[in-house]
Amino acid sequence: MKFFIDTANIDEIKEANSLGILAGVTTNPSLVAKENVSFHDRLKEITEVVTEGSVSAEVISEDSEGMLKEAEELAAIAPNITIKLPMTLEGLKACKVLSDKGVKTNVTLVFSANQALLAARAGATYVSPFLGRLDDIGQNGMHLISEIAQIFDLHGIESEIIAASIRHPMHVTEAALNGAHIATIPYKVIGQLVQHPLTDKGIEKFLADWEQANK
Ligand code: E4P
Repeated sequence: MKFFIDTANIDEIKEANSLGILAGVTTNPSLVAKENVSFHDRLKEITEVVTEGSVSAEVISEDSEGMLKEAEELAAIAPNITIKLPMTLEGLKACKVLSDKGVKTNVTLVFSANQALLAARAGATYVSPFLGRLDDIGQNGMHLISEIAQIFDLHGIESEIIAASIRHPMHVTEAALNGAHIATIPYKVIGQLVQHPLTDKGIEKFLADWEQANK
């Protein structure tokens, strides 16, 4: 499983990129709104940091024509822009047109296996099931990842599954175990993945022993 970061904050993206683990970035209108910057300028900045990995930019139109117009402008920002489309009838239409043109797509707001299958058949490069938001309403987000992974495997589907709406480190481990190809993770959770109290304790002990021996 690969790691994407789920943010539009440039400092978080730079920091995660410097760790050498970053395979891409996902943004969404809520994440961009927090930043108080021009969407296009921020995408340009992001693609200057993450030059090869996929950078998802979400459209806000609700009709396929509008989505395609936005997609054209967004895709012109950099070659690694992936067009993020909502899981709607209009989003599927736009997905098909873009995938036929060879433009990468990420179908977002996926909450069922059928939606994921539809998105894949419309040519989506990525499908994004939202784990945390399902957990929030008492449904099993991880079960959805597992179902989609089984269906894609059974039918030889090449669309990649992005485990999205990740809230904590267990989501990351379980997404990997259940067959997600990618997890898109908030910066705070990336930090949590690094932490282990025994690592800290181990470093403390090594340093103390070293100092003792070199007195
Ligand atoms: C994915 O691409 C979305 O940006 C994201 O994971 C949404 O997560 P949230 O439920 O924390 O808003």
